[in-house]
Amino acid sequence: MFYKFEDGHGLPHDPLKAIVSPRPIGWISSRSAEGKINLAPYSFFNMISTKPCLIMFSSEGRKDSVTFIEETREFAANLVSANLSVAMNKTSVNAPRGVSEFDYAGLNAADCRLIGAPRVAEAFATLECVVTDIRHPVDRHGNPVQALMVTGEVVGVHIDEAILTNGLVDMTKAQPVSRLGYMDFATVSETFQMFRPKWEG
Ligand SMILES: Cc1cc2nc3c(=O)[nH]c(=O)nc-3n(C[C@H](O)[C@H](O)[C@H](O)COP(=O)(O)O)c2cc1C
Repeated sequence: MFYKFEDGHGLPHDPLKAIVSPRPIGWISSRSAEGKINLAPYSFFNMISTKPCLIMFSSEGRKDSVTFIEETREFAANLVSANLSVAMNKTSVNAPRGVSEFDYAGLNAADCRLIGAPRVAEAFATLECVVTDIRHPVDRHGNPVQALMVTGEVVGVHIDEAILTNGLVDMTKAQPVSRLGYMDFATVSETFQMFRPKWEG
């Protein structure tokens, strides 16, 4: 099948988020100017540069995470592993501003080292970030869309050594949870390796 996006898909549910998957989940923790803490999952999330290390997430509208991050210009991205998937999902609740999703989901907030935002104490890894950019991406006509894209530079990295094997982050231990389409999620159960080819002309 093929459809022009503007004509609609004609399927029972929108297939696009299933096609662009699996998506990593950035579990974004932040603090407001007045000191309230916030936690929410974002699967429009990725790393976009290594040196400096930049990561981004996109909020479909001005939600609490973006509002807090605009105020303090810092956030942390916590790793969601399989044992935390139910708690992660709880933190997606549409709670009023100022209500801590850490408390709602029964999670502990630990201090970050270099930024004021909290981190999820139970997470196997956390990236501490300083905001570099918050903007509305534009559509093909150059008009700003409703989504807000937050980019941050990673300034500190927490890794629980429990997920290391011979100094490498071991996915079979970290068991990262990813977002698929519909109501589906996945964890990594198998990995394989490939090496990039050298051009030999
Ligand atoms: C796995 C998962 C991924 C999500 N990804 C996004 C996303 O990428 N962008 C977004 O705007 N909302 C996303 N949501 C919904 C937000 O988590 C939800 O709207 C939440 O209430 C926002 O919290 P906040 O207002 O505290 O920032 C996701 C929810 C779940 C469960």
